[in-house]
Amino acid sequence: MRVYRGTDYNDMSRKAANILSAQVILKPNSVLGLATGSTPLGTYKQLIDWHQKGDIDFSDVTTVNLDEYAGLSKYDVNSYHYFMKQNFWDHVNISPERTHIPDGTAADAEDECLSYDNLIAGIGGIDMQLLGLGNNGHIGFNEPGASFDKDTHIVKLSDMTIEANKRFFEREEDVPRSAYTMGIKSIMQSRRILVIANGVHKSEILKKAFFGPVTPSVPASVLQLHNDVTLVGDVEALSLI
Ligand code: F6R
Repeated sequence: MRVYRGTDYNDMSRKAANILSAQVILKPNSVLGLATGSTPLGTYKQLIDWHQKGDIDFSDVTTVNLDEYAGLSKYDVNSYHYFMKQNFWDHVNISPERTHIPDGTAADAEDECLSYDNLIAGIGGIDMQLLGLGNNGHIGFNEPGASFDKDTHIVKLSDMTIEANKRFFEREEDVPRSAYTMGIKSIMQSRRILVIANGVHKSEILKKAFFGPVTPSVPASVLQLHNDVTLVGDVEALSLI
């Protein structure tokens, strides 16, 4: 594992964007696995900025997102589809047909999971997967206790995740109780993984995930078993390692 320390959130975001843009420059038709949440916002902002300056071209890139809330349509302002359009896709020259995310309103959830796995396999797998780190060690929506051996599936969200995500919703009752997520097996099949984390509130879980035992009770700890992981954090998140 490589660890890069950013002086602050902006520096962390710039370093992460540099790594993603190097991936795209070296392989213009890369498949990028993307994440939502607060952590990647600065990374996306930086990539948009470089794109607008003509430094990075996404025209051959394909993206697959980690997860989506079950029950929310892509037009719902709280859906991850909407988040991706607002914060990244609509600002770069990525073709909408090459942006993929589970359909929160799919009639048949199992079928949707299977189709998503087939889609990822059909585009040749993920070259670089971007991951944020949940306060409880989750990656995607793979919550503590999740099996390391699952592809895309539906999960019930833990109380801690509902609590953490309610900041995006008007009322806590509006936070969906379940979501589609790539499984840990899908994530581990990515050729390269880029984890980003900022803030002192992530420092303990980050230490546990990367320097504690590999255990389903800290889902991100599985990343210790991957042979190409890059961790980019700000000084606060990395303060205990
Ligand atoms: C988002 C995702 C989640 C987040 C995690 C951290 O697509 O899969 O696992 O990466 O909850 O969220 P933030 O960045 O908001 O701290």
